[in-house]
Amino acid sequence: MNAETCISAIKASKKHNFICDETIAGLVEREIAKYKSEKDVIKSVKTKLHQITGAFIDESDIKKAYGILQKICGNLENTDGNLQKACSNLESTDDNLQNNYSLPQNAYGFSQKGYDIHQNTYDILQSSHDLSEATDRQSMGEDIRSILSLHASTRERMDFMEEMFKDIFTVTGRNCSILDIACGFNPFFLALYSESDREKYYASDINVKLIDLLNYFFSVSNINGHAFASDILYKIPDVQVQNVFLFKIIPLLEQQQKGYSKVLARRLKSEFFTITFPTRSLSGKNVGMYRFYNELMHNYFTGDEFEYCLQKEYFNEALYIIRRRK
Ligand SMILES: C[S@@+](CC[C@H](N)C(=O)[O-])C[C@H]1O[C@@H](n2cnc3c(N)ncnc32)[C@H](O)[C@@H]1O
Repeated sequence: MNAETCISAIKASKKHNFICDETIAGLVEREIAKYKSEKDVIKSVKTKLHQITGAFIDESDIKKAYGILQKICGNLENTDGNLQKACSNLESTDDNLQNNYSLPQNAYGFSQKGYDIHQNTYDILQSSHDLSEATDRQSMGEDIRSILSLHASTRERMDFMEEMFKDIFTVTGRNCSILDIACGFNPFFLALYSESDREKYYASDINVKLIDLLNYFFSVSNINGHAFASDILYKIPDVQVQNVFLFKIIPLLEQQQKGYSKVLARRLKSEFFTITFPTRSLSGKNVGMYRFYNELMHNYFTGDEFEYCLQKEYFNEALYIIRRRK
């Protein structure tokens, strides 16, 4: 069996051609050992890609997010070309990116208080993009929340996101540098809760289109961010930060390489690790996940190596903030 043939067939698919090469190559290498035909290997890798990334967001959601950002930032002509560049990476469609996005079901209390975009971010967007007066902080906040709810993982935490980030920043400080591994749409929260003068925010994911979108978002909002496409199973970033985010990614890594999270914690250069786990499945079932992951946490990250600064359970997500002992 030829691995190259399998890789080419998978990359030829519109659904998978924007996933990091090393992710596809790694999965092919693993699956090739299990099957006798290339067809079965290809099928199995595609299923795995769905489980680790496709189930959370698809290309049309990324397009919708561009549409919303474009609405916030005004015409394409007003930007410095980053949006055109980013959009050119998307498949061309008949959609009018500027107008044709549909908001997800408004089930997340957008009308509640405290959902305005952060004043600093608003000021920057307004001064650099000549926004109409009608684009006020609250409607921008709602737009950003619409973007957040396009990715399954951020959508699931919409009801308690504010409480969760407040908890995190109370422990680690508000402006520490962050490396957000397997970030999904998480970095968009910065527009709601972050000071624009925060320390560097690094974000990685295996979805290249998502990474392009984030870099566009950082450039138009002047958030001090940098997103890069990378598979954490193949390369551990060599960057020094104060806080590493590992939100809902450990279960996916452990399925592929048991014990890998321990390696990560040892090799990543950070004082704090902010780790979350889903406590209900994507379909909403509670199947003893909290107990399982709580045990994993305490087995992997022992008290003699890490101080447990905060441990808290929200509706469908468990949060741990641990600090490396000196
Ligand atoms: C469960 S979602 C979590 C997203 C985000 N951390 C959050 O909680 O909002 C998993 C994300 O990890 C990405 N991903 C999966 N495997 C990865 C890997 N090995 N390295 C980097 N990113 C990965 C997927 O593309 C997807 O966006």
